[in-house]
Amino acid sequence: MLKKKVKNICCIGAGYVGGPTMAVIADNCNYLNITVVDINEERISKWNSSDFDNLPVYEPGLKEIIKRVRNRNLFFTIDLKNSIKNADMIFISVNTPTKTSGFGAGYASDLKWVEASARQVAQNAVGHTIVIEKSTLPVRTAKVIKQILISSFDEEFENKTEKSFSILSNPEFLAEGTAIEDLNNPDRVLIGGDEEDSINALKNIYEKWVPEDKIITTNLWSSELSKLAANAFLAQRISSINSISAICEATGAEVNEVSNAIGFDSRIGFKFLSAGPGFGGSCFKKDILNLVYLCRYFGLNEVAEYWEQVVKFNEWHTKRISKLIVEKLFDTVALKKILILGFSYKANTNDTRESPAIKIVKDLLENGAEIIISDPQVDPDIIALDLGIEENVFKNGSGQGKWRYHKDIYEAAMGVDAVVIITEWKVYKSLSWHKLVKVMRKPAWLFDTRSITNYEELKDLDINYWSIGNSNYC
Ligand code: UDX
Ligand code: UDX
Repeated sequence: MLKKKVKNICCIGAGYVGGPTMAVIADNCNYLNITVVDINEERISKWNSSDFDNLPVYEPGLKEIIKRVRNRNLFFTIDLKNSIKNADMIFISVNTPTKTSGFGAGYASDLKWVEASARQVAQNAVGHTIVIEKSTLPVRTAKVIKQILISSFDEEFENKTEKSFSILSNPEFLAEGTAIEDLNNPDRVLIGGDEEDSINALKNIYEKWVPEDKIITTNLWSSELSKLAANAFLAQRISSINSISAICEATGAEVNEVSNAIGFDSRIGFKFLSAGPGFGGSCFKKDILNLVYLCRYFGLNEVAEYWEQVVKFNEWHTKRISKLIVEKLFDTVALKKILILGFSYKANTNDTRESPAIKIVKDLLENGAEIIISDPQVDPDIIALDLGIEENVFKNGSGQGKWRYHKDIYEAAMGVDAVVIITEWKVYKSLSWHKLVKVMRKPAWLFDTRSITNYEELKDLDINYWSIGNSNYC
């Protein structure tokens, strides 16, 4: 039962979800005090830094909000205990990566941080606390959290009357790169729970800026499953159009024309129909694999296989592009220089998790290429971590190539045999190909995995051109 008005909020996890989400809540509800806690001290000091261009998360519009609300009603700290103690409402927004070992490895989510957070809440909360699952979780995780919270009564029997908890699921549907827009104008807000008071307490907050008819309430399990299902449907749509891109290349059809033609059907719609190098990001693959694990657990093997194919296809599709690049470059990229434009998994983010760029660059390195990488937001240290290879290091005798980072695109293109566009950054749409082709080694190639370049600008230049889902140019 809700015993007090919500005034103090704590969010555990200052990542891509926790940081922007709390910033937008603070901006829209100046009567709330919001504290975002994280175990990562460096991350917290970056959130607190006066260098607003270096926040841990890059999102258009985020730094302006942080400038307005930080230390007004939004605070970043590593003091977990006190933040929990003071909170009426706690969001759990820690990461839930796919398990790499143990039961369910490769499929199930690793819930150790969610569990650790729940234990901290159980120990330190005072009075009635609403605990909200913000992280994407397998269906029925709320039950686990409940059990952990309730068990704290046994441990501290004397304090039994002093605490109580209610649990809600409030999955995040923001997409990176448009997080602030998505949070300010969401298609819907989903709240799952079974206690009306707590649901209303959270609803009251969102109602400060979200129209009431966009706030959907369901039971806990529907809410948890809806998040997995939404991501599975979106990923499936990308795999569908990518599969069509391969048929287009084989037949002479053009994927953008097909997307447009089918998008006019209002039942299909235009969104999420851009063919690309394969979906990346921290959520799609992880959430589908989670769904697959869940299906297998319940003996629904055919359902599991159906969804698993979306992930398998995505992997095949990215590999198809790596192979195609090698084939076009006379079947060998050894000692050839290739410029990669874009390393983040999509534009307007510095996030590289599951980026198709990682897979494509690794494939080209394994084939001996010399790779130059340029990206407007991704740091070379992150690239080194993702590739597992230091910058400028040749592994002697391995046959493996090497990579280096060079931000300036025109300098980076000096003497390269090919340019591969992997991320659809806006700046790549207005490059001077006339200037680039001049400095590239001939025969020169452009591989555009996002089909964002204009053939008309390229057709008279001394460059071969491949664009996804279109075999008419090369
Ligand atoms: C989000 C969602 O919350 C998650 O469900 C989804 O599956 C992936 O995306 P995200 O915000 O992107 O997570 O993750 P990340 O940027 O890694 O941030 C999580 C933060 O939680 C990190 O800063 C990490 O240090 C912090 N954390 C983790 C804690 O503060 N405590 C812990 O016990 C574990
Ligand atoms: C996704 C969901 O959109 C969001 O609702 C959820 O909360 C988290 O997961 P995100 O991963 O940030 O968000 O990005 P999204 O815009 O969905 O793109 C995912 C991947 O699909 C990217 O690699 C993107 O490049 C790719 N994509 C997207 C395409 O290849 N074509 C498209 O038409 C759309």
